[in-house]
Amino acid sequence: MDLDSILNHVAEKVEPHRGSGKVANYIPALASVDPNKFGLAIATKDGSCYRIGDAQEAFSIQSISKVFTLSLALQKMGDALWERVGREPSGSAFNSIVQLEHEKGIPRNPLINAGAIVVTDHLVENGDADAAINTLLGVLRDHAEDPSIDIDYEVAKSESETGARNRSLAHFMASFGNLDNEVEAVLSAYFRHCALSLSCSQLARAALFLAFDGEDPVTGERIVTSQRCRRINAVMMNCGHYDNSGDFAFRIGLPGKSGVGGGVLAIAPGEGAVAVWSPGLNDAGTSTVGAIALEALMAETGWSVF
Ligand code: DON
Repeated sequence: MDLDSILNHVAEKVEPHRGSGKVANYIPALASVDPNKFGLAIATKDGSCYRIGDAQEAFSIQSISKVFTLSLALQKMGDALWERVGREPSGSAFNSIVQLEHEKGIPRNPLINAGAIVVTDHLVENGDADAAINTLLGVLRDHAEDPSIDIDYEVAKSESETGARNRSLAHFMASFGNLDNEVEAVLSAYFRHCALSLSCSQLARAALFLAFDGEDPVTGERIVTSQRCRRINAVMMNCGHYDNSGDFAFRIGLPGKSGVGGGVLAIAPGEGAVAVWSPGLNDAGTSTVGAIALEALMAETGWSVF
């Protein structure tokens, strides 16, 4: 398969749609990103990276970071995590609070904000948010074989300053006893992991293990068990785009995760990891152009899992 020429076709398909969707502005630091940006990278088994457009430019990965925190929390705590967070699609917006009251503070899944906050709580030991973030950064740099990966602290600060909704979710869950640490310690780690800044190339490389049953095919390092890898992918398929997950599965047919920075990660089992970035979003917070690009990529590669 000639992935370079496929990527050129994808770029042609995307061109008329460039700049469509709405750039997230509820986190002020994200509002100033150029809506015309578009990049896509595919990391494959032998460590090759096929890229097009702005694939080397770092962007705020936002909720895509929830996939890495989930993987880390499962490595650390094992399946006990599932006692405090579910694995069902919510059918609600990423920052919704409605189900938490009837469901006793147990979020529907680890990819909505409430669920990701519980996952982050698992990563913070004895209130030490800095240590949790340092561990996560180390893991990402290791997976991506790139020590330059970092957090955009301006984005993290901006999100904290406007984080009333996430604080509400966290306090509400704390009232049900579903947080071990202080709300501010958990959120301090949560805001920072959402503000991780990676390029499409770095992101696709960092997530490559998810396409190869939990083992990094380049280094041979086992990162999660095969069963856990499949389960993470299953959660991404059902919940990765919130109330847009059905549409994403219908159109693209791969486990994926969106972020309000305009990034989308998609995992093609046995083939590779794909990261796409274009800042304009649909109503559910998935990149409009990113989804169009992935749809075009699927039409040419046939990588859908269905
Ligand atoms: O907590 C938030 O609202 C953001 N840091 C992340 C939300 C997000 O990326 C939703 N995904 N599309």
